[in-house]
Formats: sequence, C-alpha cells, structure tokens
Amino acid sequence: MTLSVWSIAQISAMVVGLAIMITSRIRSTRAPTYPPKVRSLLPWVGSALSFVFGQSNFLALCQVQYGPVFQLLAGGRNIIVVTSPDSLTSVTFADHRALSPCAQHHSHISALCSDSSLHPQIYDTIAHKIFPVLDRRLSKRGLEDITPPFARLVFDKLKLLPGRFHVSLRRSLIEPLFAGANGVLFGSRFPQDTYEDFFTLLDSLPKRLCKRPFWSLPSSRARDRLLRRISDYLEGANAAVDDHVAASFTALFREHNIPIKVAARSVLMIMSSLHQNTVNIVFWLFAWLLADSSAFSAVRDEIDRAVGEEFGSFQTFIAEASLENLDSPAFALLNSAILETMRLATVQSGMREATCDLVIKDGDRTIPIRKGDYVLLDPRGTHLDKNLYPEGDKFVAGRFAESEYRGDLAATTGYPFFALGGGKHTCKGRFLAIYEIKVLAIIYLSLFDITSVSRGEGLPPVWEPPEPSGQSAGTVHPKEDVFVRLYPRFVL
Ligand code: HEM
Repeated sequence: MTLSVWSIAQISAMVVGLAIMITSRIRSTRAPTYPPKVRSLLPWVGSALSFVFGQSNFLALCQVQYGPVFQLLAGGRNIIVVTSPDSLTSVTFADHRALSPCAQHHSHISALCSDSSLHPQIYDTIAHKIFPVLDRRLSKRGLEDITPPFARLVFDKLKLLPGRFHVSLRRSLIEPLFAGANGVLFGSRFPQDTYEDFFTLLDSLPKRLCKRPFWSLPSSRARDRLLRRISDYLEGANAAVDDHVAASFTALFREHNIPIKVAARSVLMIMSSLHQNTVNIVFWLFAWLLADSSAFSAVRDEIDRAVGEEFGSFQTFIAEASLENLDSPAFALLNSAILETMRLATVQSGMREATCDLVIKDGDRTIPIRKGDYVLLDPRGTHLDKNLYPEGDKFVAGRFAESEYRGDLAATTGYPFFALGGGKHTCKGRFLAIYEIKVLAIIYLSLFDITSVSRGEGLPPVWEPPEPSGQSAGTVHPKEDVFVRLYPRFVL
C-alpha cells in the first residue's frame, strides 16, 4: 500500500514536471508579444499599485526595461504606453472618434468635482459650450484683444516683493501668473484672493487623478470655498458694468441655461487647464536657469537689450507688451529656453480610450489596439532620446534658437516635440502659455537680481534644482520649493 502511494506521488511529480517543461518550451518558442507586457504577479490588479503610487517614476522604469512602447494591466484596464516619435504621432493624429479623449476629460472632472450627478452636464458645458469660446479667445487674434492688462497685473504683484530675503520661488512666480491669467480670461471682477485655495486643490490633483483614496480633507474644503467664490462671481454678473471678458462668459452660461452649480465647476475645470502646466513650466524655467549661470546671464542680457531697444523703457514694455511684440527675434533665446523647459518637463501628456479595434504605427511595426484599451502618451521617450536631442537629458537654453527666427512655436518645427499635444487636441492655450511665461520672465528678471538660498546642510557647493516628484501629472512637479533672495535692480 505504502509503496503504491509513493509510486503514484512519484508519477504525479514527473507528470507535473514534464507539463511545466513543455509549457515553458512552448512559451519560449512562441513569438514575443508586441508591445511587450509589463510583468505582474496579480491578475486583474496588475501594476495598478505601482501606477497609483508613483506613476511617472514607474513608467520611466518600464520604458528602460521594455522599450519605447509597452502595455500594462492596471485594475482590469489594458493600458498601452507610447513614447516613441512615430507611435506618439500616430496616436495624436488618429481619428479622435476611434481614440477618444472623453475618458480623460471625465477622469479630470471626477478628480476635481465631487458631485458625480453633475459630471455629464459639466462635460457637455466644457466640451461643447466653453471649448469653442476658448478656440476663439485663445487664438493669436483673440489674445491680442484680451492680453493688454496682463503685464500690468503681473507687475502689480511682483513690485511688492523687493527687499525680501527668503522668498518662495514657486509662489513669487505663480501668484503673479494666477492674477494675470485669471484677469485676462475671466475679467477684472474675478476673485483673485482665491490663490491659496486654488493651489491647495491643484497640488492634490496628481493624487486625485490616480484615485488615491486618502487625499487630504483640506484640499476638498479648499475646493468648496473656491466653488462658493466662483458661484458669487457668476451670480454677480452685470452686463452694464462688467468688462467684456467677464460678460461674455456669464452671458454664455445664461444663454444655454446652465445651472450655477454646473457653471461654477466648469469654470474651475478651465482654471485647472489654465494653470496646471504653466505653473510647473515657469518654475522649472527659473530653477534650471538658476542652476546654469551662463544661460541665466545670456537670457537676462537678451531681456535687458530687447526691452531697451524694442520698447524704449521698462514702463513702455508694461504698457505695450502685446502678443505680437513679444513673438519677436529680440526674445529668441527666452523663447527657446521656454520650449526647452517644456521638452524636459513634460510627462504623461494625454490618455485616449479606444472605441473600436484599430492599429497604430510605430515605424515599421503595427500596434494592435482593441476596443476598450487605453492609450497613454508619454513623450519622455522621445524628448529625452539622445539620438533625437543631443545631450537630451540636459537643459540647453538655446537649443531652439534658430539662425532666423520664424515664430514662437515654429522654432520646434523639425523636432519631435509633443509638449503641447497635437492634432485635434492640441493645447488650446499654447500661445497664451508662452506669452504669459515670457512676460513674467521679462518683468521678474528686469526687476530683480536673484540668488538661491541653500537648501539645508550637506548639499553640494554648486546649487542644484530640486528633484522632480515621481507623482507628476502632465508636467513634472517639483518635490520641494526653492527659496531665493531678491535684490531690486532699480528703484520702482
Ligand atoms: C506650458 C503650459 C501648457 C502645457 C505644457 C500644456 C499642455 C497641453 C497638452 C499636452 C494638451 C493635450 C492633451 C491631450 O492630448 O489630451 C493640452 C490640452 C489643452 N490645454 Fe494646455 N497646456 C498648457 C497651457 C494651457 C493654458 C494656458 C490653457 C488655457 C486655458 C490650456 C488649455 C488647454 C485645453 C482647454 C486643452 C484641451 C484641448 C482638447 O482636449 O481639445 N493649456 N495642453
């Protein structure tokens, strides 16, 4: 009896062993899947945890291990991540009905707006009522009409700073931008004292987008206060006294009978698009210039020269800093430094959901996409590729400065540049973003001499910018702030 039990056990072990050998043999001879699959032990859950707790770091590691296009499973979703120039171009220019951005808009709405019963109406308001207005207002022509107060609004904030010796670089850059951009997009009656609440909410956005369940209560409270202020702004509309910018927004909501709850949340969503990337780009522009003293001096010299030669004086610049005046060869290096910052600071720049089976191209290869798959665009694989961008991991301020200036964004022609998206969903605020950052940099660098304040003991003698956060959305968030001393360059 004992003997026969042993024989059965031995035979079973041999059968199992043989089965394992045969399976692994078959697996090793089967053609590898393309795009390769990120290995994970957990069915359905897949890589969801790595994805949620440090998306941008996790994707960077996967790219090193699996190459420029790969797929991963996260919470039952198959996500194809594209990072090569061809695959990014193919996704960007695919039919927007086949690769739809709707899920991305919805995830943004649910991250920022709590009441889910309102989400369909908010989406409809943004995509069908507000986007057409933005297309007009944020076109080069439309911006000539609304940007004149911008430089003054920025200057009025910045002139309060001189004489301070421990200034937050982030806040000193972002608060003036917040005031200027809200002023030109929503008019002079917009509640500008909402800075604290808005950025408390915005700083929680990467966690909210990943659906991390424990984002802080303070950010939700900040959101509720902010919505009350935006509702008051919308309810206080008065066509007789409002400037035309504010009046056209409120008239739009009235014309379409959009309830105030929906209108306020839609304005919050537009505020998020308006500021979420611009504030990171402006921060890194300054941080990387501070770390590169020769680039810093070259940009500052260009600004001093251009303000003198093109405008005559700083005060004339404030009065006449139009979009057209700034899209000029006189600011070619500053323009290039801004584009270079965008190249280096862009992380995941868009998500699409496949509404049908389709294929996208990656050079000679085709990538099959099945209905229900998600496609995530992560241009870092292209933007940091040293074959495409020599010294691609370094900040080279003059990289996009051409021998003959052809226009702000034209400077990226010929480069694989995806920082502002492309195709039907190209960033609507691209001209405004570049204009905003230029004006802010010109005023800031004209007004102040800046030195960075060391960040604690034991740091290297050469100042280094802060580390990027592994949990970034759209553009890299800094892990920490930078503190600077500001010395006035002339008496205001
Ligand atoms: C440097 C700053 C900015 C960067 C890097 C940036 C980047 C982008 C990118 C990559 C997209 C495409 C997303 C996708 O393909 O799904 C996008 C879309 C968009 N951006 Fe920007 N953006 C910036 C500033 C702005 C500003 C100032 C506004 C003004 C409101 C704005 C409004 C929008 C809107 C409304 C869309 C959605 C377009 C659509 O889905 O059709 N952006 N942005």
